[in-house]
Amino acid sequence: MKNKIINIKRKKNKTKIICLTAYSKNIAVILDRYCDLILVGDSLANTLYGMQNTHNIDIETIINHAKSVRLGVKRSLLVVDMPIGTYKNLVVAKKNANLIIKKSKCDAIKIESNNKNFNIIRELVKLNIHVMGHIGYTPQSKKKFQVRGKTVAEEKKLIKEALLIEKAGAFAIVLECIAEETSKKISKILKIPTIGIGSSVHCDGQIIVTDDMLGMSGFYPKFVKKYANMSKMIEKAVATYSRDIIYKKFPTKKNSY
Ligand code: KIV
Repeated sequence: MKNKIINIKRKKNKTKIICLTAYSKNIAVILDRYCDLILVGDSLANTLYGMQNTHNIDIETIINHAKSVRLGVKRSLLVVDMPIGTYKNLVVAKKNANLIIKKSKCDAIKIESNNKNFNIIRELVKLNIHVMGHIGYTPQSKKKFQVRGKTVAEEKKLIKEALLIEKAGAFAIVLECIAEETSKKISKILKIPTIGIGSSVHCDGQIIVTDDMLGMSGFYPKFVKKYANMSKMIEKAVATYSRDIIYKKFPTKKNSY
């Protein structure tokens, strides 16, 4: 697992880092063939559980999805999001990070920055826990969606925050919805890889919610590119299945004992 982290770090300035989210094994098996990193994101709150935000997803739910994803991930680095409230202080963070790692057997955890929790990252790293940071639009602490880093003051603040996360020992950092020029500067200044979502081509890697890019979530903001329309494909298959049953085309002799 340490090798996987080293490999991801070595890709900086050489080749792009491919990342996607997964919430279950069957999808994870496919992603594993192409991704360097697979994230069990707390975005599953909105994407799967119909919640308004990520604020009510609990650690058990994340762990259960991570266990399923683990079954499908052999070569990528498996990272699990620490849900809101699970790293509010050092004692709580240590307990919950260890719980997530022990139960899901993931390789690393992700923590959203609130511009204060650098010591939590530092202490977890000291315990040999691999941590990925997350700055910019951080849904756990910010209610309203907003692009960050558009002003000089915001840019300065984000660069400082990113550097402190790097100094604390994070192996990579997600830049979510950060203006192009700012994410370019952060990616240039940092030694660790930046993984962008809505933060331009200048990041060292990209991540996106798989259900969004597959056209399954109904959530398609500007930063999402729809690579498939899975909802339509599934609907077509289900409609055919239902017609086949009505007209006794399924099951046939081939499907019977
Ligand atoms: O929860 C999530 O899926 C994430 C990614 C969008 C980076 O944090």
